[in-house]
Amino acid sequence: MKGAIFFSGKYGSTEQYANWIGEAVGLPVFNINDAQANPSNYDFLILGSSIIYFKLTIRKWAKKNLATLTGKSKVLFSVSGAGPSEKLERWVSNSFPSELLSQIEHIALRGRLDHSKVSWGVRLMLWIGSLMNPNPDASRDERLGFDYMDKSSIEPIVRLIEQLQLNETTEMQRYVKST
Ligand SMILES: Cc1cc2nc3c(=O)[nH]c(=O)nc-3n(C[C@H](O)[C@H](O)[C@H](O)COP(=O)(O)O)c2cc1C
Repeated sequence: MKGAIFFSGKYGSTEQYANWIGEAVGLPVFNINDAQANPSNYDFLILGSSIIYFKLTIRKWAKKNLATLTGKSKVLFSVSGAGPSEKLERWVSNSFPSELLSQIEHIALRGRLDHSKVSWGVRLMLWIGSLMNPNPDASRDERLGFDYMDKSSIEPIVRLIEQLQLNETTEMQRYVKST
């Protein structure tokens, strides 16, 4: 019984979290754009996704692979500027079909935004967004960038995965005993 991590991100923070988690629990890590990223080869899945413009960037891939994802144990970690909140849960709900959402354990992580790494047009959009954002902290983050990367924040995800690995092993032992 095996699991794997599939991530979608653009500027490196989701990948960094995926690699930290992969190292901590000994699971392979795939960028969803890799040709070898095939979720049907695995029994449980850890999905990692950045949030861009209020949506999970993994949403189209998840929809395309819906039949494969449904029924497998899944953990989702999102990576965003915003911290855990109702608003963020809403962005996640709006990105996934409800049948998938109901089967997923979600944990929100905070990422990084380095203005020197984004295009000109994106910087302009972020600046306009910052002018319209009523929250002063979020507005400053949009305008100046931020770095909330924190390796210790993967701990709850690591614990969930260890639980999944334990469950899978127990299931296998039960099966072996019954045959
Ligand atoms: C164009 C753009 C739009 C973003 N939109 C949001 C957003 O709607 N909500 C949010 O909390 N963070 C937003 N962010 C912040 C990203 O979620 C954050 O930088 C994340 O760490 C990016 O992940 P990545 O490095 O894996 O691409 C946005 C960042 C960019 C560049």
